[in-house]
Amino acid sequence: MAEIRLDGIVKDYGSVRAIHGVSLNVRDGEFVAFVGPSGCGKSTMLRMIAGLEEISGGRMMIGDKVVNDMEPRERDVAMVFQDYALYPHMSVAENIGFGLKMRGLKAADIAPKVQEAARILQIEAYLDRKPGQLSGGQRQRVAMGRAIVRHPSVFLFDEPLSNLDAKLRVEMRTQIKRLHAMLGTTTVYVTHDQTEAMTLADRVVVLKGGHIIQEGHPIELYKAPNCRFVGEFIGSPQMNVFSGELDRSGDTPMLRVGNAGLALGEVPAADGTRLDVGIRPEHLAWCKPGAGKIAPIVEVFEPLGSDTMAVCRFGGQELTARLDPAVPLTPNTEIHLDYDLADLHYFEGESGARLSQAA
Ligand SMILES: Nc1ncnc2c1ncn2[C@@H]1O[C@H](COP(=O)(O)OP(=O)(O)OP(=O)(O)O)[C@@H](O)[C@H]1O
Ligand SMILES: [Mg+2]
Repeated sequence: MAEIRLDGIVKDYGSVRAIHGVSLNVRDGEFVAFVGPSGCGKSTMLRMIAGLEEISGGRMMIGDKVVNDMEPRERDVAMVFQDYALYPHMSVAENIGFGLKMRGLKAADIAPKVQEAARILQIEAYLDRKPGQLSGGQRQRVAMGRAIVRHPSVFLFDEPLSNLDAKLRVEMRTQIKRLHAMLGTTTVYVTHDQTEAMTLADRVVVLKGGHIIQEGHPIELYKAPNCRFVGEFIGSPQMNVFSGELDRSGDTPMLRVGNAGLALGEVPAADGTRLDVGIRPEHLAWCKPGAGKIAPIVEVFEPLGSDTMAVCRFGGQELTARLDPAVPLTPNTEIHLDYDLADLHYFEGESGARLSQAA
């Protein structure tokens, strides 16, 4: 069993608390992604699991052992870093087998394991090269090879793809997903890229300021973010959020946004309450003049082929709509957009906490 149990984990750097009592169980074989903005504590969390950073408080277990005071190499975890940390003077094969050699394995026992890892990662042709003679993506695979060759109970990844270009990042993402499907090793993966977290993980943990803000299946976080921060962080392009005042004077509740109004559904708040209301760009639909709930002004539009992003002004705030590429758009003109009330997200203006569940 390679379950990881974090129980009230605290990390202090001198007088500064970086992690404020985090509790979380990562199940055996599960792929969990830690995501959040720079400085939220992702690497610190991962390094504490790896044993590279002392734990200031709480209890950490891997399998049935308390590991708080255990050396990194006793923990049976393998970590892949952002900068790969390969040895430049060693060949690819030596880099992959280095950990095994350090453990005292014989060369004859190391070679087949290195071959096997190289086969899985499709880097057999480069085994005799030095890291300096490889592309970024190939180096990244060597770093992964070094981790998988040890058959650890836990894989830890810290932003392993952030040095790669966009295309390679997507390719390696698929490779990591395939690897996890093949090996089923418990994995904790740190990234600031929500797309990476969502596409890879069984469960996404959103961190902010050393606290867990929300955790759940990627689609759960997308559909029901528990606060404005998660709503805006998860999903691409970003959720539109309008700040305004609730107006209950008419037949339907409205959000007053500057000089515009946004029709709302049932929202559990009193007239005059300051609200933040979210709607995702993909939940806005173009319609003919006279129809639709809102009529923002198109400022610019970005054709992507599969769809077009229309960046508009609405009540003095910016609004992005993801529209069919066939929709006729002209800058500085009004468009008519409709949405389902069920797709609105209501957040308390002051705290940003979710007010009611979108369907
Ligand atoms: N060795 C250290 N000494 C003091 N403070 C530290 C140290 N390492 C990290 N911190 C602080 O702890 C907090 C969390 O840092 P951490 O590196 O875990 O963030 P992160 O989420 O990985 O960010 P990034 O996305 O930029 O990598 C930050 O405020 C950081 O300044
Ligand atoms: Mg980091």
